[in-house]
Amino acid sequence: MDGHKIESIMDLVARIVGISILITLLVYVYPRFYSSLLEAPDYSLIDEFKGGKTIGFRYAYVGAWMLTISQVYVFLKYFIKLSRIRVRLAKWLDIHCILNTTGFTLVIIHSGFPYSFRYWEPFTRVNVFKGLEGLIGIRGLLTWILLLAFTSGFLSRYGSNLKLKKITNRVHFYSILAVYALACIHILLSLMFPETK
Ligand code: HEM
Ligand code: HEM
Repeated sequence: MDGHKIESIMDLVARIVGISILITLLVYVYPRFYSSLLEAPDYSLIDEFKGGKTIGFRYAYVGAWMLTISQVYVFLKYFIKLSRIRVRLAKWLDIHCILNTTGFTLVIIHSGFPYSFRYWEPFTRVNVFKGLEGLIGIRGLLTWILLLAFTSGFLSRYGSNLKLKKITNRVHFYSILAVYALACIHILLSLMFPETK
């Protein structure tokens, strides 16, 4: 097997491990999603659309699944490289963009951005001296990076300047990596240390 192929397989394995962690967390929080479906939310309250409130949690959960399922495109790209199956990738890239735009909208409403976004300072709510609980504020940083990921994805798809597209493609790659890692930490910490107010 040539070096290129081995590199591709290692890359694929790393991606499968990464996405499996997120999927495990989403399966783990399912009971909370299910109970949010049984509640009757008050649509007139802005707060209901945020955080762990009834609608806010539904949006986070469904939105996160959309961001996850959109990865089918990325995996198909690997399968084509490794086994030469013929698939119309352009169609799957469109599905990637549509799923991510919808998922992004749901998740951004969940974060409260921009209306009453309590975590607009990316770092000041992060307190490393308070242990794990001090990291709860990374949800602010996560929201900003998600915005960067969305914008760079949009520009790499629809931008017209080839040089700029190359840069936004890189930005998209690294910001998504950060989004996945921070999202996993955010989900765990939000469940471990729920806010009382
Ligand atoms: C915010 C949610 C998004 C997530 C989680 C996400 C995730 C990803 C991932 C993991 C990749 C593969 C990166 C790589 O391996 O190089 C990728 C590539 C890409 N995404 Fe996104 N994306 C998002 C939003 C978008 C949006 C909204 C668009 C377009 C409107 C978009 C367009 C693209 C394009 C054009 C590529 C490069 C495809 C290629 O080089 O083959 N993404 N995205
Ligand atoms: C990547 C996308 C996500 C972003 C950017 C994000 C961002 C945020 C932000 C900013 C808050 C604070 C809202 C406020 O009260 O002002 C929050 C709260 C919360 N998030 Fe997320 N979130 C994301 C994904 C998720 C997912 C997938 C889940 C679980 C399925 C989740 C569960 C929660 C919970 C339970 C809270 C409430 C915590 C509490 O108030 O005790 N989030 N999120």
